[in-house]
Amino acid sequence: MENGQIEKKKRVFSAIKPTGNPTLGNYLGTMQYWGGMADEYDCLFSVADLHAITVAIEPKDLRENSKRLFALLIAVGVDPEKCILFMQSHVAAHSELCWLLNNYTMFGEARRMTQFKEKSEKAPENVNVGLFDYPVLMAADILLYQADIVPVGEDQLQHVELCRNIAQRFNSRYSPTFVMPEGKVPKSGARIYSLSDPTAKMGKSDGNDIGSVFILDTPEVIMKKFKRAVTDSDTRVCASPDKQGITNLLTIYAALTGGTVESAEREFENSDYAAFKTRVGEAAVARLEPVRTAYERLRRNDAELLDIMKSGAAKAERLARRTLEKVYKKIGFVR
Ligand code: TRP
Repeated sequence: MENGQIEKKKRVFSAIKPTGNPTLGNYLGTMQYWGGMADEYDCLFSVADLHAITVAIEPKDLRENSKRLFALLIAVGVDPEKCILFMQSHVAAHSELCWLLNNYTMFGEARRMTQFKEKSEKAPENVNVGLFDYPVLMAADILLYQADIVPVGEDQLQHVELCRNIAQRFNSRYSPTFVMPEGKVPKSGARIYSLSDPTAKMGKSDGNDIGSVFILDTPEVIMKKFKRAVTDSDTRVCASPDKQGITNLLTIYAALTGGTVESAEREFENSDYAAFKTRVGEAAVARLEPVRTAYERLRRNDAELLDIMKSGAAKAERLARRTLEKVYKKIGFVR
């Protein structure tokens, strides 16, 4: 910061889809980090509602999930005064840039996306073009704001790579337009597995599955789910590839308490499984209970929530339009 220059903060963009009920896995993997980033970075966070319709969803669910996730993000610590928090569909520039970028995305590279292949197999009756285009809309989200850093779960890194390819292609076809974004997976807690099937990811759409702990579960429900967590016939609390249930619980405990799997192993060296599972449940309750209280306060007043959405969208809109205008002009559109 020599010569009295003010160092420009790097920009962060990330988003979550309002599908299903957010889980402890979502919280530990991504959401818990967002609030704290606002001190170091210039942050934009979005509820990716446009992405949510690539799989079948009822109108009332889309509406409720969207409001719930938006309020939940504030409840976990994303401060709408310190960063820009908004609904993706409130800023039309996302859909517009997506269309433009479609023309700089190759069919072959989009077809290689793992998530597209997986979702196509899971719902063969609804392999729609939106599902195929999903990563291009995601590229638009990121590139509109000239984001330097994109915090994501591991499964989304491939999409950020595709976004970089699109940006690179556009920049070299015209002239430098987009900042090259970098995908970043948080070091700990990036992958949390189901408590009932520790080989599967903790799913947020699994309704009342006892394998998923939802952020908004009551303390009683959380404790019950942890106590019933699948383990193995051994008795030692230690991480190992053939003890996936225990390893998952150790990972969860470490992420909840800010420790490591090793420190958790030491702490529970002399514990039996039942005592260990109770302690993990208590740690989860301790973190999630204040979130639920804050959430419930926010959901008491819909008008207030909509106001926060509106002001976030206005701020995002200004930044997005600037990029979008540049893109239109470079391609040759009459403006
Ligand atoms: N696809 C992301 C997910 O499933 C959500 C998302 C949408 C996103 N747009 C984004 C993440 C832009 C990062 C940047 O988790």
